[in-house]
Amino acid sequence: MARIYLSPPELSGSELAALSGALDGGWIAPIGPDLDGFESDLALVAGRRYAVAVSSGTAALHLLLHACGVTDGSEVLVPSLTFVATANAVRYCGGHPVFIDSDDDTWCADEDLLLIELERRRQAGRLPAAVVTVDLYGQVARCESIAARCAELGVPLIEDAAEAIGATRGAPAGSFGIAGAFSFNGNKLITTSGGGAVVTDDEDLARRVRHLATQAREPVLHYEHTEVGFNYRMSNLLAAFGRAQLSTLEQRIARRRDINAWYRTLLSSTPGVRVMPDDPAGRPINWLTCIEVDPLVAGFSSDDVIAALATDDIEARPVWKPMHLQPLFAGHELVCRDPDNAVSTRLFERGVCLPSGRMGDDGRARIERALRSLIGQVTAS
Ligand SMILES: Cc1ncc(COP(=O)(O)O)c(C=O)c1O
Repeated sequence: MARIYLSPPELSGSELAALSGALDGGWIAPIGPDLDGFESDLALVAGRRYAVAVSSGTAALHLLLHACGVTDGSEVLVPSLTFVATANAVRYCGGHPVFIDSDDDTWCADEDLLLIELERRRQAGRLPAAVVTVDLYGQVARCESIAARCAELGVPLIEDAAEAIGATRGAPAGSFGIAGAFSFNGNKLITTSGGGAVVTDDEDLARRVRHLATQAREPVLHYEHTEVGFNYRMSNLLAAFGRAQLSTLEQRIARRRDINAWYRTLLSSTPGVRVMPDDPAGRPINWLTCIEVDPLVAGFSSDDVIAALATDDIEARPVWKPMHLQPLFAGHELVCRDPDNAVSTRLFERGVCLPSGRMGDDGRARIERALRSLIGQVTAS
């Protein structure tokens, strides 16, 4: 029986035709009409005026932080519960990430805590160089108040929407703050095998990001450079692939949401198991469905869930290990309400990401069997 993966890449069916079209047109160089088209499509999805397609989501974050002036010793407020790329991008600029704990309702950065921390820093005359929010597992972070406050204080707010293309919370993922970043790596809802994008309404910022992503080459015939740039642009071929993927975005979202609803029903009467809450103010895309298991109530742990699924070759993984627990960031501050009970620590200890990609009835049946068998063992004992 085939292994069930957490979030395998899915084809739309039109990728080959899109690639052939680009090849037939001779557009195998880094630039071309598909790159322009993909950027227009992305801007539309994010409700932004501009998009710049780049080689990864990490590159998108790096370019944005660099363009915002994050440099040696700059402090940047970043959620602790995220993939390491968010914090690494700060380090690439020489910056120092300060980690913010999650809230219990969305698992994203606790917005009230962020506001308090910003105010504390304002009073101390130590505003951060930037703030990054992360739309965790496909849910747009609560960030309206923080976006407004950052705008008042002149602190750039960057939305890491790597996991959330197509999600909304009043407005689309990628549209909060000065700019958003998407990822198109192989496990994301939309993939270009590897890729990312910056989306923004700020024409100067878009121009600057584009410039930095192409080795900061000056617009003259000879090769003139006045600053360090990067080789981060997406190729026209990958953009053609991305356009084909993007054409089925809504179907992909509907499928992930359906899988999420199925898990909710399946686990609704299991004490001690909670599916990551959907914020009623938004429409998450449920990139990954995650659960939190309270072992004292459930009678089994998150590790038991992962092990039970593994017996039938079904992939499941712990929720992101928070940055404040990473050896890489030892000594970095965690801003939280109660240091002995950080929400992100608890979510890591108890959280499991469940298979959330395309699967047939047989896939669902296998997952259900494995989960029911674990739950049944506990009920029987
Ligand atoms: C929250 C978050 N930020 C950034 C990234 C980095 O994106 P990429 O892998 O395209 O560099 C990812 C995913 O990989 C992510 O999940």
